[in-house]
Amino acid sequence: MGGMKYLLALDQGTTSSRSIIFDPQGKVIAVAQKEFTQHYPQPGWVEHDAEEIWETQLKTAKEVLKKAKLSAKDISAIGITNQRETTVAWSKKTGKPVAKAIVWQDRRTAKFCDKLKAKGEAKRIGAKTGLVIDAYFSATKMHWFLQNVPEAKALAKADELAFGTIDSWLLWKLTEGQVHATDVSNASRTMLYNIGTGKWDADLLKLFGVSASALPEVKPSSGVFGETSLLGGSIPIAGIAGDQQSALFGQVCTQPGMVKNTYGTGCFMLMHTGTKRIVSTNNLLTTVAWQLGDGPMEYAVEGSVFIAGAVVQWLRDGLGIIKKSSDVEELAASVPDTGGVHVVPAFAGLGAPHWDQHARGLICGMTRGTTKAHIARAALEGIAYQVADILNAMQADADMKLRELRVDGGASNNNLMMQFQADILGVPVVRPVVTETTALGAAYLAGLGVGLWKSPKEIASQWEAEKRFKPAMAPAKRKTLMAGWAGALERARSGE
Ligand code: G3P
Repeated sequence: MGGMKYLLALDQGTTSSRSIIFDPQGKVIAVAQKEFTQHYPQPGWVEHDAEEIWETQLKTAKEVLKKAKLSAKDISAIGITNQRETTVAWSKKTGKPVAKAIVWQDRRTAKFCDKLKAKGEAKRIGAKTGLVIDAYFSATKMHWFLQNVPEAKALAKADELAFGTIDSWLLWKLTEGQVHATDVSNASRTMLYNIGTGKWDADLLKLFGVSASALPEVKPSSGVFGETSLLGGSIPIAGIAGDQQSALFGQVCTQPGMVKNTYGTGCFMLMHTGTKRIVSTNNLLTTVAWQLGDGPMEYAVEGSVFIAGAVVQWLRDGLGIIKKSSDVEELAASVPDTGGVHVVPAFAGLGAPHWDQHARGLICGMTRGTTKAHIARAALEGIAYQVADILNAMQADADMKLRELRVDGGASNNNLMMQFQADILGVPVVRPVVTETTALGAAYLAGLGVGLWKSPKEIASQWEAEKRFKPAMAPAKRKTLMAGWAGALERARSGE
């Protein structure tokens, strides 16, 4: 396969590390994937072992090269995309993490967040970062490390502590401790980054007790960050973006008003808003989409649903009503509707647009006739309802009606659910040929970073629809179903 230059995307997600090779046409050449351990030391806590993340990532990178029968010299550039917000603290001297990484889903800092809200910090933080105060973001996780891990405290005092989101951690490891950097999209999820000035914010650093020297240098999403020699030759790392921003780029939603939704562990809907920062009045986040080289900062509005695909894992592992995740479609399709059952998967509280940290999951509306099939169907519909709540908020914020929703991620392959999604939204849902859009976005950013393409316009023609789901539900039925969902949601809320 010599001659042609390929791109290697490292996609470090919440449940697995993946490596994917793309050709310059954006076609998948090979994929390698490895799941890693989830640690739940206490209710509401979720941790990852950063060393295991690195090991699985490196392993899949080596494996994918082997599978594709390629070597380092065939790879133009590496792009990194990652689960966002998850925070690693390590020693700059030894390169060893001081504790397990605190995952984005972890709720241990919820009380601290309540205190910040009670102190009236929401407005100031929102104006600077575009975020709402929630345990989801990295700042309170860093604060927790500094308060609770003696080694983190000692290293901070000696100015030897490094903080980073997963992209920074992987970049550090790939460059063997040479580069401590991140990109603007990941920085915008920390709650320490001022998305207006494009700098770590001195007031927020003070509020959370984090010193700027512990934080990575913030760079554009596309451009050379450093090089790695760990894959059998030197390869530039030329693109980094948080996985949701990367998927937005991979779906070529590069024009203001274009929207994608990714069905992963959670669900993340982003609307590109160009160089304009839309301030949500409907509880959505304003976030940095990307910055291409020395171009301007581009923004997005985002709605994050914490539990989506994870509810299917729970049907499998928690309830044991399906053997493998893909069985859910058949089980759900064995009944014509949920028989009035609703599943609100608020296992980790509710994200946008409800933001209720203390809400918890529920199943309601059961009768003696309820079966596991109704529950499976209601679980899938629960994902789609959450997405509808976000889309409605987004349309209100942008004051426009969406033309189509581009979808990707595991559950986007579920035709039953995608049809229900189109029905409940009243908007066409479109699935592209390449659904590996998260990794593809990172590959595109890396390719742009080394000049394989000159502008995103050259990439746009690669996007192709595979299937369109047209809304077929009568508006009156949609209204009744949405009202039923709203009632169930109300019962799951904590009343905070
Ligand atoms: O904000 C969290 C998000 O980036 C995680 O994405 O795909 O790993 O569930 P995913």
